[in-house]
Amino acid sequence: MMLMVGGTGVLGRQVTRELLSRGERVRVFTRTPAKVKDLKQLGAAVVVGDLIDAASIERACQGASHVFAAAHSLIGDGRYRSAAVDDAGHRRLVDAAKAAGVRHFVYTSVLGAAPGHPVDFWRTKYHVEEYLKASGLTYTILRPSAFMEWHAHVFNGQPLLEKGNAMLLGRGTKLRNFVAVRDVAEFAVLALTGPALKNRTLEIGGPGNFSNRQVSELYARLAGLTPTIRQVPPGVLNVIGRLLKPFKPGISRLLFLSSLPDDAFDEQFDAAALLAEFPRELTTLEAFVRERLAERALRR
Ligand SMILES: NC(=O)c1ccc[n+]([C@@H]2O[C@H](COP(=O)([O-])OP(=O)(O)OC[C@H]3O[C@@H](n4cnc5c(N)ncnc54)[C@H](OP(=O)(O)O)[C@@H]3O)[C@@H](O)[C@H]2O)c1
Repeated sequence: MMLMVGGTGVLGRQVTRELLSRGERVRVFTRTPAKVKDLKQLGAAVVVGDLIDAASIERACQGASHVFAAAHSLIGDGRYRSAAVDDAGHRRLVDAAKAAGVRHFVYTSVLGAAPGHPVDFWRTKYHVEEYLKASGLTYTILRPSAFMEWHAHVFNGQPLLEKGNAMLLGRGTKLRNFVAVRDVAEFAVLALTGPALKNRTLEIGGPGNFSNRQVSELYARLAGLTPTIRQVPPGVLNVIGRLLKPFKPGISRLLFLSSLPDDAFDEQFDAAALLAEFPRELTTLEAFVRERLAERALRR
């Protein structure tokens, strides 16, 4: 039985569906069982739990052979602040998996996770990676770049298509790597169903690096739009981020990281080594955008 923590998220859902289609037994861990209706219909079991509730994690791990960790609380506040979920919650999950005799723990980290990273979320991911490695569990650590589904579409292309304008946080000039969730999901499934990625840390990215401005321009070109692309200057993001920090630390983190200079941390990726070891066709940003436009045309 594979325990999917974050099984209702964009990545976790895709991995869960793929595992179910292969006949694997899957248990989805969620705070909100209503989110899992579709996965239940496909054969998933559901366990209600919360990464801030140790007893629920221990219950969920009972009888699990594998754990896939794909939850996060990057913009969470209060009891769901990142430190409680992404750090303490994930350490608890590692401990509970070990105690329950889990055979393989697959952890979704992030490209660039490092102890000296300027943003705490990336430092947390690094420390959880180290905690997992030291646990003695068989592990796989996946370090994907920014998901196209969130960072190209939800935060950029979708509002541009809906409003005809783009509003970029920061200069929008920094080159970043974007990866399609289905490509990340393939590696998660590979890790969960065979020995290929045992005790490995794998960086995963898409085939190109683009700035947020280039992403807006790509959507505009493919949709035949001439939008106004505005930007919220880094200085403004920094001031608002500081003001919000005591009340909304999650949003404050997002504004802070968007306010950093382009060279504050590297978000680019070269897929050559990944493709040399695992030959495949990675989804291009242009193909991804064309798919979103086709979906939109169907809905109209
Ligand atoms: N998004 C990106 O661009 C990106 C890039 C690199 C790495 N990653 C990593 O990839 C993983 C998946 O990201 P995603 O974008 O697919 O996530 P997502 O769509 O934002 O979904 C978040 C998931 O986290 C779960 N979650 C949040 N707080 C929880 C808590 N207290 N207890 C239990 N579950 C909780 C949610 O479950 P319920 O609401 O059902 O409880 C949901 O399934 C994360 O580890 C993320 O850090 C993401």
